[in-house]
Amino acid sequence: MPARNRNHLKVLLRRTAIERRVQVIAREISRDFRGESVHLIGVLKGAAIFLSDLIRQISLDTSLDFMAVSSYGKNKETSGQVRLTKDLDTSIQGLNVILIEDILDTGLTLNYLQRILQQRRPKTLRIAALLDKPERRIQAVHADYVGFTIPNEFVVGYGLDYAEHYRNLKDICILKLGKE
Ligand code: IMP
Repeated sequence: MPARNRNHLKVLLRRTAIERRVQVIAREISRDFRGESVHLIGVLKGAAIFLSDLIRQISLDTSLDFMAVSSYGKNKETSGQVRLTKDLDTSIQGLNVILIEDILDTGLTLNYLQRILQQRRPKTLRIAALLDKPERRIQAVHADYVGFTIPNEFVVGYGLDYAEHYRNLKDICILKLGKE
């Protein structure tokens, strides 16, 4: 990996815009499930920050679980294969499940997770993705709640990483790698 300080970051989405959008999504979820409970499932690790901001804005009874899949390795290209590396702790049968993902890119991850979760008979299954890169889509996925549709650029920050770096940035930035 090139020295991190040679990489170039350009702000795409400022923290204030993200905060406002997360609030709007939380309000939509609270309205859509009024009088019911929701079970949020975060896809580790990228969705952790989005999920932690979102859940605190939802005015319903909530519960929480996590799953992990292997997707991107240490570079920016996906292998095209999705593998479950951490399963849920509890059953989702009969629950209003919202699967929370940082970014919908090729669609392989969410397509796979949606299929395995549907087999477990939740009452409802919805998807919330903070970011959507529709140009890269290989498998169709319908996200019920989308924060921002973005161009085909590699982004980091607000939970998103490049080789585990940059997750702590408050803004979402386009990453251009410096020359080695
Ligand atoms: P998909 O299976 O191609 O839709 O990819 C979803 C996963 O790829 C996300 O959960 C991210 O972990 C990763 N990913 C896709 N695009 C980006 C990006 O621009 N920055 C960081 N991670 C990304």
